[in-house]
Amino acid sequence: MRQVFHWFDNRLPVSRFWNAHLSGYYVPKNFNLWYFFGSLALLVSMIQIVTGIWLTMNYKPDGDLAFGSVEYIMRDVEWGWLIRYMHSTGASAFFVVIYLHMFRGLMYGSYKKPRELVWIFGMLIYLVLMAEAFMGYLLPWGQMSYWGAQVIISLFGSIPVIGPDLALWIRGDYVVSDITLNRFFALHVIALPLVLLFLIGAHIMALHEVGSNNPDGVEIKEHKDEHGKPLDGIPFHPYYTLKDMVGATVFLIFFFIVVFYMPEMGGYFLEPPNFQPADPLKTPEHIAPVWYFTPFYAILRAVPDKFLGVVAMGGAIIVLFLMPWLDRSGVRSIRYRSLAYKVLLGAFVVSFVFLGWLGMQPATPLLTLLARIFTAVYFGFFVALWLISRHEKTRPVPERVTAK
Ligand code: HEM
Repeated sequence: MRQVFHWFDNRLPVSRFWNAHLSGYYVPKNFNLWYFFGSLALLVSMIQIVTGIWLTMNYKPDGDLAFGSVEYIMRDVEWGWLIRYMHSTGASAFFVVIYLHMFRGLMYGSYKKPRELVWIFGMLIYLVLMAEAFMGYLLPWGQMSYWGAQVIISLFGSIPVIGPDLALWIRGDYVVSDITLNRFFALHVIALPLVLLFLIGAHIMALHEVGSNNPDGVEIKEHKDEHGKPLDGIPFHPYYTLKDMVGATVFLIFFFIVVFYMPEMGGYFLEPPNFQPADPLKTPEHIAPVWYFTPFYAILRAVPDKFLGVVAMGGAIIVLFLMPWLDRSGVRSIRYRSLAYKVLLGAFVVSFVFLGWLGMQPATPLLTLLARIFTAVYFGFFVALWLISRHEKTRPVPERVTAK
């Protein structure tokens, strides 16, 4: 075995990789539960890729056959129901994990210097993930797949001058059709997963270049022992590989409870109209995107003008890219930041959750008013952060991490 290993190691940087990224990679010793979600995002990516490959073996990307092929997978393909429910639950689980992962970044200022690129790559992942989920949702060719795609693609049509041609180019037809289904299939199963894998690689390489932040927001590289090892760091392997396995086990328990007992999650993970085949002549009474898109959908509907709504919706995502520059405070972690900052971040989270709920409801005058208020709070967070962070009264940050 040893000889075989050396044979490979002399021809491939196996042990160099192991040392650089696992056993010799030093990570702050004070990670808490919030640091589980990066490795969980990796786990969910793997679940999606493996179940996706098996779904593709029986799925038919054809307007006449797609809906039936999904029913066939559910009823006749051996374990098909499990593979399909793991994939559909995996989509929602991905966003749960990613939202918590992003929130951790906001709380501990992990986007700040020198981790700006880690954050930017993360945001690019988030954008591509949204496109990946949107295109995947068309594939079962149910009523909500069809009409959801129709509504979202028509938004591009509201862009002045180029809009109508752009929408036509995306659909490949005057309405969502078999042509759209075929191209979304190609993008969903190969193009976007490749981009995602590349971005995940870049995200982790950028992180390993500068090292992880931690709940105290202090740099562990500033205090090293005589061998040059950070005093507040421990090797990623075996300490965090083991810790992440505990996180993965707990996550999988919850994941399979949903897969086995509530795969539709009360209509949040799989919407009821999607159990009816797509019918271009029958619009469902109430069209709403899946829960992870609804905060942005609520922002879109809050603005009376369609094009300005699209601008606000896009702006709500773009502004997150700017976090490293909008937040001008010298302190990273929420632990040592002012009460004003804590209130701001709290208001931001509340506005995001409420917008998510509002995006699922039919638009009444009262709910539209509420959506406008929460949209103002959402954007207000970024403006206020930029204004207060420069001269924010922070608490003294310790020299070393506070974990014993
Ligand atoms: C497929 C999606 C993603 C995967 C697989 C992934 C993976 C990881 C991993 C393994 C880590 C190190 C462990 C940890 O800190 O939890 C990490 C750290 C980080 N990620 Fe992600 N990530 C993803 C998406 C995102 C997104 C969408 C953002 C934000 C926009 C983001 C921002 C960050 C930041 C700022 C860190 C450094 C955190 C720190 O050191 O405190 N990631 N990511």
